[in-house]
Amino acid sequence: MAPDPSDQAGLDYQELARRHLWLHFSRMGSYDRGAEVPIIVRGDGCYVWDDQGRRYLDALSALYCVNIGHGRRDIAQAGADQASELGFFTTWSYAHPRAIELAAKIASLAPGDLNRVFFTSGGGESVETALKVARQYHKLRGNPLKTKFIAREVAYHGTTLGALTATGVTELRTPFEPFTPGGCHVPNTNLYRLPPGQGAETLAETVRERIEFEGPETVAAVIMEPVQNAGGCFVPPEGYWQRVREICDAYDVLLISDEVICSWGRLGEWFGAQRYGYQPDIITTAKGLTSGYAAMGAMIASDGVIEPFLEGTNTFMHGFTFGGHPIGAAVALANIAAMEDEGIIEHVREHEHDLRAMLDSLRDIPIVGDVRGAGYFHAIELVKDRETKASFSSAESEALLRGYLSGALYERGLICRADDRGDPVIQFAPPLIAGPEQFEEMEAILRPVLEEASRRMESL
Ligand SMILES: Cc1ncc(COP(=O)(O)O)c(C=O)c1O
Repeated sequence: MAPDPSDQAGLDYQELARRHLWLHFSRMGSYDRGAEVPIIVRGDGCYVWDDQGRRYLDALSALYCVNIGHGRRDIAQAGADQASELGFFTTWSYAHPRAIELAAKIASLAPGDLNRVFFTSGGGESVETALKVARQYHKLRGNPLKTKFIAREVAYHGTTLGALTATGVTELRTPFEPFTPGGCHVPNTNLYRLPPGQGAETLAETVRERIEFEGPETVAAVIMEPVQNAGGCFVPPEGYWQRVREICDAYDVLLISDEVICSWGRLGEWFGAQRYGYQPDIITTAKGLTSGYAAMGAMIASDGVIEPFLEGTNTFMHGFTFGGHPIGAAVALANIAAMEDEGIIEHVREHEHDLRAMLDSLRDIPIVGDVRGAGYFHAIELVKDRETKASFSSAESEALLRGYLSGALYERGLICRADDRGDPVIQFAPPLIAGPEQFEEMEAILRPVLEEASRRMESL
């Protein structure tokens, strides 16, 4: 048994973190061998500070969460007030005022007839819930064979074993196989790397082809993000979502819009589906719902999806103790109210072009191959050769991303995400209150670091 740290005079957080904390998605061996654990202690607006007093521009909103910005006392207060009124009650067969108010608020903002809200504790649980709803929905309607899910290559939908069925990132899947069967994958909308001669309009047809190949009577749902995060902000080509909707309708397949990142203003709308003008049967969400001030997610289902669950004694045999937590719900209500009062959605629409223009201005740096995204959700793809679009080998990518870029950006005070789940990219999703001042600051850090990365790659 380890000694109780509260017995010690001054806590050595580095030492305690290295010894006891298991960080997510992290190579723990490097910390064990002495690498510094980044310890973030406070935040204010677009900035956070570490335990050494260094300031960082949080251009990733703490993993696409803190849409309203850090350090909001009003949102914290909403949680504290709720905790003293009713700290916790469950939504297993009971309701409480904040869950009811939040469900109604979400229904009023969600597109079309997405009127039914099932609360969860986060994004993976929301996806898990949507996949289970889709299967039972078809069973209740007399189509028990409809159990498969179609998702896209390199997409991330969470890490629980059901959600992993949809996640299309090979290295996240293989260590845990076998998992829930039924996941099928189709190409994503990587328009930068479309095979020669292939038009963007053919991408939606891959969904139809896959449904036909699997047998429409076996397919429950299609799950996709409005803009795909993993791989680097793949936007849909014109008409893509409308065609996917038509295909789903033709084969009685539910359309799940996974908006764990793309909702709550991230794309300049409450929901990503609104930006691209399509009507999903189910939306999954989390993160920005509370701006990360509490752990909460939701699955939002249409009137049509809940219909068979309303008949007779039918029951959705599924739940999470903390789904609809009163503190999370109070925080989400305060967050949404602040977004409305402060015109956050309008602010994103007004300034997304400034973010894009700043990133586009980096295109003269040889390593910058592509800039893409929408709203406050963008990525730069890094390439070895701009003419041929040649990418890096995994060893080069390792040297570039982990050996240089991630550390250099962080040391200079910029939190963003250097990632190679597909081709190497740097991703940006600043708090939605960011504006030209922050974009200038980002550019001042990105330019010298990317120029140095270009020089390093040339000498490889
Ligand atoms: C699109 C999408 N779906 C699901 C998830 C899983 O969410 P969580 O990490 O809250 O379980 C994520 C997380 O980033 C995501 O981006």
